[in-house]
Amino acid sequence: MLTPAFTRADYEAAADEIRRRTPRAPKIGIILGSGLGPLADSVENAVAISYRDIPNWPQAPHGGHVQGHKGQLVIGSFEGQDVVMMQGRLHFYEGYNMHQVTFPVRLMRVLGVDTLVVTNAAGGLNENFKAGDLMLITDHINLLGQMGNNGLIGPNDDSFGDRFPIFTQAYDKKLRNKAIEIAQREGITLRQGVYIALSGPAFETPAEIRMFRMWGADAVGMSTVPEVVVARHAGMRVLGVSSITNEAIDNQDSTKDVSHQEVLDVGAKIVPNLVKIIRGVIREFPE
Ligand code: HPA
Repeated sequence: MLTPAFTRADYEAAADEIRRRTPRAPKIGIILGSGLGPLADSVENAVAISYRDIPNWPQAPHGGHVQGHKGQLVIGSFEGQDVVMMQGRLHFYEGYNMHQVTFPVRLMRVLGVDTLVVTNAAGGLNENFKAGDLMLITDHINLLGQMGNNGLIGPNDDSFGDRFPIFTQAYDKKLRNKAIEIAQREGITLRQGVYIALSGPAFETPAEIRMFRMWGADAVGMSTVPEVVVARHAGMRVLGVSSITNEAIDNQDSTKDVSHQEVLDVGAKIVPNLVKIIRGVIREFPE
């Protein structure tokens, strides 16, 4: 069993500190992935709160820090709506347990957030995808969770959701349709597909890449799904967009290679299009 789990009071204490610093009551939470942090610069009248200053926020197991992740909540106005953005997320591969990885999502829920927008950098498995594409997440394969690393393992907190939450429609259809509509209007290519979540930090082998393709996955990454699981458990609507920062390598004799720097560089170039889509969805938010 995963211990220690946080109690409702732990999330409440963190929420109290945030409420002390801003009168805003965001209903929309946005998690920014590798290289996508600059999206937070678009938030108006922003209050930034370092993760270090939030009670019970999980401390890095080794004081570490992943390049490209800043480590603060940014709360402010975005397209006329109050939002809370996470500039930098917690990853399982850093050594956090799944309750810690998903702490911010429950904190957002306690703050009143009912819609979660998740973004990430991902490798493209689908052979039609190119580095620099955006992919709307239609569904996921929770390899991490199915292998026993699921943030809902342990005693169920009924105040958030049911013991056995349903995942048939993990990614909200109205939000997906709105994202597609915005992308079409803006002339942005928006791919659609299934995201498979792995632990990392090792990138995949070519044999794994070929296997994930056969399983029906279109993009591969090391985040997002843990947060989506806890968000859906708590009844939040979810929109997910992946930046395809590299094409996954499916041949052990390939001369190409993947690098974290490439992920950050390509991620940064995709930001303007991602901003347009997220802005549009929030501006024309479907009820
Ligand atoms: N694999 C896993 N995670 C990733 C990748 C990848 O190729 N690119 C960006 N995040």
